[in-house]
Amino acid sequence: MRQHLPKHNNEKMEESSRPYSFIRIAISYIRYYFTSDTRHDVHSPFVYDFIDHLLKPAQLIHLPLIEAQRQALRASKQHISFIDYGKQGMVSQKSIATMAKNALKPKKYARILASAVRYYQAKHCLELGTSLGITSAYLASGPTTSLVTMEGDPQVAAIAKQVWEELGLHNITSVIGNFDNTLAELGDTQFDIIYIDGNHHYEPTMRYFEQLQYNATAHTLFIFDDIHYSPAMEQAWQQIKASAKCMVSIDLFFLGFVFCKPVLQKQHFVLRY
Ligand SMILES: C[S@@+](CC[C@H](N)C(=O)[O-])C[C@H]1O[C@@H](n2cnc3c(N)ncnc32)[C@H](O)[C@@H]1O
Repeated sequence: MRQHLPKHNNEKMEESSRPYSFIRIAISYIRYYFTSDTRHDVHSPFVYDFIDHLLKPAQLIHLPLIEAQRQALRASKQHISFIDYGKQGMVSQKSIATMAKNALKPKKYARILASAVRYYQAKHCLELGTSLGITSAYLASGPTTSLVTMEGDPQVAAIAKQVWEELGLHNITSVIGNFDNTLAELGDTQFDIIYIDGNHHYEPTMRYFEQLQYNATAHTLFIFDDIHYSPAMEQAWQQIKASAKCMVSIDLFFLGFVFCKPVLQKQHFVLRY
């Protein structure tokens, strides 16, 4: 039975939610790159499989039609009034081209999502943070997959729908509204992969992880975006890793993977990608 957890008002953006500066992220990335493990440093067969099937360039899925849609969005001249529930519902004028350049996961990481869907044979996926629908298209590219994707702003969600229409993807359900309200609409639907890419603050990230346990099975893979984006996200990532729900975590710097399978021995990996 789904338990309704208390909602919190993000009235003030916590100080720790401010993103790190570009320089700070660049330095952290360089440190990550030179200290992270490669396949040779790892002794877990489960993680070997992850590397071999999700991270090896030869295994990664090429989806040129989705990338053509990304390019078309980058060339768009359209502007919208964008409601950002990640910033307390702040409304601002945004160019679709700028959004396509700055807000979407690059191809390098989006391809891992498509490979994860295939390798783990995910049938039902959930995404928090549709934006223009590019990672949604990657997640929905599996041969027998369906995706539920959630977005606060109705105009970007409408553009995402056009993208999927162009791609002939009819296995995507779009849910529009603040996650704080729309997550309850999921009922007890179970998902194999849950990708959380919106509202990058400590409190909602922890709350969504907790709340989405009702939609997870023992095999569900959680994927978190931008785990090193701000002190708040670092804190959330450390706490998620330490939680009893997380058995194996894999940190790729811009994406964090959490496997909850109870049979796995609790271990944390930082892998070079
Ligand atoms: C980084 S973008 C998602 C990018 C997309 N996954 C991709 O890479 O193609 C995050 C999206 O989450 C949405 N979002 C953030 N907080 C939200 C909330 N509380 N409720 C609903 N949508 C939210 C924003 O409107 C934004 O479009």
